[in-house]
Amino acid sequence: MKILVTGGLGFIGSNFIRRALTETKDEIVNLDAMTYAGNPENLADLIPHPRYRFLRGDITDPRAVRQAMEGVQAVAHFAAETHVDRSILDPAAFLKTNVLGTHVLLEEARRRAGEIKRFLHISTDEVYGPVLKGKSREDAPFRPTSPYAASKAAADHLAAAYHKTYGLPVVIARPSNNFGPYQYPEKAVPLMITNWIEGKPYPLYGDGRQVRNWIYVLDCVRAIGLLLRKGKPGDAYNVGGEVLVENRALVERTRDVMGVPRNLVRRVPDRPGHDRRYALDSGPLSRLGFRPDFPFDRTLRETVAWYKARPQWWRPLKTSSDFSSYYQKQYEARTKEIAAP
Ligand code: NAD
Ligand code: TYD
Repeated sequence: MKILVTGGLGFIGSNFIRRALTETKDEIVNLDAMTYAGNPENLADLIPHPRYRFLRGDITDPRAVRQAMEGVQAVAHFAAETHVDRSILDPAAFLKTNVLGTHVLLEEARRRAGEIKRFLHISTDEVYGPVLKGKSREDAPFRPTSPYAASKAAADHLAAAYHKTYGLPVVIARPSNNFGPYQYPEKAVPLMITNWIEGKPYPLYGDGRQVRNWIYVLDCVRAIGLLLRKGKPGDAYNVGGEVLVENRALVERTRDVMGVPRNLVRRVPDRPGHDRRYALDSGPLSRLGFRPDFPFDRTLRETVAWYKARPQWWRPLKTSSDFSSYYQKQYEARTKEIAAP
C-alpha cells in the first residue's frame, strides 16, 4: 500500500514511518513543512530507502497536497501544531495547520474519490477535555479547553463530517500522551530527562496532581498501523496507554530512574486552563485485537537511556533560537517564575 504520511518528521510520525519501512511492505510519501518540530535527523538514515520519499511542503498548500497524494491509497495524517503551552501563547498557527490544513487534505482526498481507501486522521484524547472520574469513550462529548485541543476537536469533527457527508473512508485515532524516542524536548518527558542530564531543574506546573494516560510511542504507532488496515470507516478509536499517572508521580519515577536530587524539581505557577485528568477507554481498539506490548516502567528507563545516549540529537534543538525565544515568552507570560532551562 502507498501511504501519504503528513508530519512524518515529527515525534510520532517518524516512529510510524520507521516501523512501516521495517515491518511492512508499505511505500511511504512523507509530506512535512519542517516546522521547529519537524527534524530531518529523525529519519536521516532512511533517506536512501527505496520505499521512502520525502516532500517538503505545507498541508495548507493545496498544490503541495495534490502532488503528495498522487497514486496514494491511504493517508495517515499526523501533521499538526502540537504543544499546548505554545497554543496558549499564540493560537493562530494551530488554527491554520490543524483546522485549515486538515481541510485541504480532506478536500484533496474527496477529489480522488475511490482512490483513497483509508483516511486515518490522528486526533487526541484532549478533545474530550478533563475527565475527573472514569474513562472517556469514543462517544463522549467534546469539551476541549486549550486552543490546541479546540483546534484538534474542530479537525476531528471535520474529518467525521467528510465521512458522513461525502462517504470518504475516514477513520479517527485519538491517542493519549505518548513518550519515547525522538520527542521534541519541550514536552514533559523529554524536557524532564534532558534538563536533568544538564543538571537543570524541571518546572512542575501547579500542584502536580494532574493525571495523564501515558502510552509508549511504539505501541501507539502499532495501533495506528492496525487502524489503517482494520479500522471501520466512520469510526473513532481511542488509543490509550495502560497507566494513569499523576505528574508528580511521573517526576518521582523518573527521578528514581535517573537518581537526581529533589532540588531539581521546581514548582511553578500552573498552566492556564490546565486539564486535570485524561483517561481513555480503548475498548473498540482492543476488540480489533490490540494490546499494548510495552510496560511503562521499562520503557521509561529505555527512554531515559535513549536521551542519555543521544545528546547530539537534542542539544541542538535546545540551543536553537526557536527554543530559547519560546522559553523567553513562557517566562514573560508566567510571572517570571519559570526559569528558562
Ligand atoms: P510533533 O509536534 O512532534 O510533529 C509535528 C510534525 O508536523 C512536525 O514534523 C512538523 O514539521 C509537521 N507540521 C506542522 N505543521 C505542518 C504543516 N502546516 N504542514 C506540514 N507539516 C507540518 O507532533 P507529534 O507529537 O508527533 O504528534 C503527531 C500527531 O499526533 C498530532 O496530530 C498530534 O495532535 C497527535 N497526538 C500527539 C500526542 C503526543 O503525545 N505527542 C498525543 C495524542 C495525539
Ligand atoms: P505535555 O507533555 O506538554 O503534554 P499535554 O499538555 O499535551 O498533556 O505535558 C504533560 C503534563 O505535564 C501536563 O499535565 C503538563 C505538565 N507539564 C509540567 O508540569 N511541566 C512542564 O514543563 C511541561 C512541559 C508539562
